[in-house]
Amino acid sequence: MPLYGEGFAAVYDREWAFWAEHLWPFLAARVGDGRGGTRSWLDLCCGGGHLLGRICAAGYRAVGLDLSPHQLAVARRNAPQAALMQADVRAFEFRGGFEAITCVFDSLNYLTEPADLAAVFCRVARHLAPTGRFVFDLNTHEGLQDAWNRIGTVPCEQGHVTIASSFDADSGLGRAVISGYAAENEASPLFVEEHIERGYGPTEVAEMLTCAGLTSEVLDGHSLQAPEPRSARLLWVCRRTSAAMAS
Ligand SMILES: C[S@@+](CC[C@H](N)C(=O)[O-])C[C@H]1O[C@@H](n2cnc3c(N)ncnc32)[C@H](O)[C@@H]1O
Repeated sequence: MPLYGEGFAAVYDREWAFWAEHLWPFLAARVGDGRGGTRSWLDLCCGGGHLLGRICAAGYRAVGLDLSPHQLAVARRNAPQAALMQADVRAFEFRGGFEAITCVFDSLNYLTEPADLAAVFCRVARHLAPTGRFVFDLNTHEGLQDAWNRIGTVPCEQGHVTIASSFDADSGLGRAVISGYAAENEASPLFVEEHIERGYGPTEVAEMLTCAGLTSEVLDGHSLQAPEPRSARLLWVCRRTSAAMAS
C-alpha cells in the first residue's frame, strides 16, 4: 500500500498545511537569521512543500526531499523555487553542508526502527554546516496513546476522509487506516492507506542525538515552550557539538 499516494496527497495539501504556518515564525526566528540570501535550507520529508514555500519566500536556497512522488508534485506547485528530490530520508547524500535542516510534523515517527532514526541523526550531522541548526519534531509514546485511539472524519473537497487509529502500548506503534471517499459513493473508497508511526521518548532521542554529535534543546512541539511530563509532541533544536566539528 503506497503512502501519500495521489489521492491522499491532494487532501493533505488542503487539510494539513496549517502546521507549517504554526511553526514558521518560530523557525524563522530560531533557525534562520533573517538574512536569507545564499544560505541553504534542507527540508527533509517536505511533504506538499508548505514549509518550503515559506523558506523560499524568506530568501533561502531551499532543497526539499520526500519519498512520495505525489507529495513532491504538490510541493512543486507550492514551492516552485525549491530544488526537490525524491529520496528516502535514510539514504540521502548531498555535497556540502546546510545552514538549516528541518524535518517536521510526524515525519520521523514513520521510522519505526530506532536504529533507522539514530542513523538519520548521524546523516543529518554530516550534512549540517558548523553553525547550522537542525530542528525536528516527534510524537511521543504518550501523544500517540492519547490521540491514536479513535475514528475521525475530515471533510474534504472530494467528500471526506476517515482516519481509524489504534495504539499498541507494547510495541509503541500507532496504526492509522486512512480512507478517502467521494461524497456520492460511501461504499467504495477512492484510496486506503495504512500509516504506522512509532512514538519516541525524550531519553532515547537525547541519547541518539549525543551519539550523532548533536547537542539539543527540547520544547513542547505544540506550545513551543518548556516540555510537559506528558507532551504529545516534542520539538528538538540541535547543533553540532564542538567535538563533531573538530572531527
Ligand atoms: C506527515 S507528512 C509531513 C510533511 C511535511 N513535513 C509537513 O510538515 O507537512 C510526512 C511526510 O514524510 C514522508 N516520508 C515518510 N517516510 C519517509 C522516508 N522514509 N523518506 C522520505 N520521506 C518520508 C511522507 O511521504 C510524507 O510526505
